[in-house]
Amino acid sequence: MITKVKSFGVVGVEGYVVSAEVDIAKGMPSYTLVGLPDTAVKEGKERVHSAIRNSGIKFPLGRIVINLAPANTQKTGAIYDLAIAVGILSSAGELKKDTDDFAFIGELGLNGELKKVNGLLPMLITAVQNKIPCVIIPKANEHEARFVSGVKILTAKTLFEVYGYFAENFNNLREVEPLSFAEIKNESHFDADLKYVKGQYIAKRALEVAAAGGHNILLIGPPGSGKTMLAKCFPTILPDLTFEESIECTKIHSIAGVLDSKFGIITTRPFRTPHHTASGPALAGGGSNSKPGEISLAHNGVLFLDEMPEYQRNCLELLRQPLEDNRIVVSRANGSIEYPASFTLVASMNPCPCGYYGSRAHKCTCNQTCIQKYMSRLSGPLLDRIDLHIEVDGVSYDDLSTTDLEEPSENVRARVNKARTKQLERFSGKDYYSNAKMSAKDVKEFCRLSPECEQVLKSAFERLKLSARAYTRILKVARTIADIDASPEIKKSHIEEAIGYRALDRLVNNH
Ligand SMILES: Nc1ncnc2c1ncn2[C@@H]1O[C@H](COP(=O)(O)OP(=O)(O)OP(=O)(O)O)[C@@H](O)[C@H]1O
Ligand SMILES: [Mg+2]
Ligand SMILES: [Zn+2]
Repeated sequence: MITKVKSFGVVGVEGYVVSAEVDIAKGMPSYTLVGLPDTAVKEGKERVHSAIRNSGIKFPLGRIVINLAPANTQKTGAIYDLAIAVGILSSAGELKKDTDDFAFIGELGLNGELKKVNGLLPMLITAVQNKIPCVIIPKANEHEARFVSGVKILTAKTLFEVYGYFAENFNNLREVEPLSFAEIKNESHFDADLKYVKGQYIAKRALEVAAAGGHNILLIGPPGSGKTMLAKCFPTILPDLTFEESIECTKIHSIAGVLDSKFGIITTRPFRTPHHTASGPALAGGGSNSKPGEISLAHNGVLFLDEMPEYQRNCLELLRQPLEDNRIVVSRANGSIEYPASFTLVASMNPCPCGYYGSRAHKCTCNQTCIQKYMSRLSGPLLDRIDLHIEVDGVSYDDLSTTDLEEPSENVRARVNKARTKQLERFSGKDYYSNAKMSAKDVKEFCRLSPECEQVLKSAFERLKLSARAYTRILKVARTIADIDASPEIKKSHIEEAIGYRALDRLVNNH
C-alpha cells in the first residue's frame, strides 16, 4: 500500500510542505530512499529502523521505497524521521487512525525518542498557510510553538506515543498551550545603563535618534573616550519589538539553531557583536550547511562592529548589499539562498592610527598620508550608508567625578518607543518599520521640507560636499528627530540637528 505523510522543509527562512511517500511491496526486505536526500536524511534510514524496533513495534518486511517529494529541492537534516516512520507503519497497515490531516516533525533517536529540531517556527507557519489541521512535534520544541495560532499542535516524547495515538486511538498526545506575546514582552534586564555614562550628551542624543529611527551610527573618538561603553548601552534604549518583528527574528535564530530564549520566541532586539576576525561566511551566512550569519541574526536588531577598521575589508564590503536591500543573498553550490538582514549598524573607530586626531587632550602624531590611508580602509560607499557619525571626545575630570545623576536608559527608551509608534502607524502595511528603511518614494512623501529648510540643507550640501546618499540620509534622520519631537512637519531645528551628525563629512573634507 502506498501512503503519503506530510512534513516540512526550509529554504532560506521560508518553509514548504514535504511529503514522504512510502510504498511497501512484496519481495526481499530492502529499503530505498529517493528524492535528493542529504547524508543526514540517508542516515535516517538506520535511525528509523532502530527506532521502530526499539519501540517494540514490528518492523514490516518487504521492499520499502520512500520518496521525499518535491524531489527537486535539497532536503537537509533529520526532521523527516518521524514522518518516514509513520509512513512505514501506515503503509504496513499498522495504524487505525488516518494521518491525512496531520503533519509530522521530529528527528528520531535510536531508542525511539523524539528529538528537538531547528527551524520549527517557519515549518509551523507553513502548516497554517497550507491549512494543515494538526502538526505533531517533539515535546522538546514545545515552547517554540506557543505563539503559533491557526493550527492544532500536539507534542510527543517518543515514537511509541505517536504510535499509540494512531494505532490504538489513545488520547495520549498533549496540545500545546498558547501564550500571547503581550504576556511575555518587556522582561529584559540589562547590566548597562546610560545613567552610568557621565556627560557625552551629544553622543547620547545621537544614540537616541539612531534607536528611534533605526539609523546606522558611527562613533569616532580617541581611545578610552567611552565609545564601547556608549555602544553597549544601545540595547537598553531600543524600541520594543513588535510581534511581527519577533516572528521574523525567531525564524532566523531557530534555523541557525541559536534560539536562546526561555520563551521560545525572541522578545528583545538582537544585539550581535561579531569579532573583527570573523570570516565572510560567519557574517553573511551560507557555507556548507547554509545557515544564516551574524548579519541576519542581527535582523530587526543591531550589528555592532567595535573598532570597525580592524575588520577585514572584504567583510566590510559584504555589508553594503544588506545595508541597501535589507537582505543578503548568499550563493552556494546548488543555487543562491536569501536571508533577511534588516539591521541597524553601530560601529566605532578611532579617527586616526594614533587615535587622537581632533582630540582636545592629546596631540595627534600622525601625518596626513597616514590618516588618509587609515580612513581609506573604510570605503566611501560603506560610510555613505551610515546615517549618523559623531565625534566622541573623552569626558573631563569634572564631568567624571560629578555625583549628579544622569538620565536613565528607561526614560530615553520611553521617548524612543513613542517615536517608533508613530513610524509603525506611518508604515503600516509596508514591509518595514522604521524611518531608516524608507524607500525613495516614501522619503518624498514623508520628508517634505519647507523652503526655509530646503535652504539650510542646500547650503550644508555645498559646504560639506555631500553625496546624494548623504542627502537622503539627512532627510530620514530629520524625520526621526521630528518624530521624537512629536512634530508632523520637519522643522529647521530638526534638519540642522541631522546635518550636525555628519562628523565624517567634516573630518574627511578637512584632511
Ligand atoms: N563618559 C563616561 N562616563 C563614565 N565612565 C566612562 C566614560 N567614558 C569612559 N568611561 C570609562 O572609561 C572606560 C573606557 O571606555 P571605553 O572602553 O568605552 O572607551 P573606548 O572609546 O571604547 O576606547 P578604545 O578606543 O580604547 O576602545 C569605560 O569602561 C568607563 O569605565
Ligand atoms: Mg572600545
Ligand atoms: Zn593620530
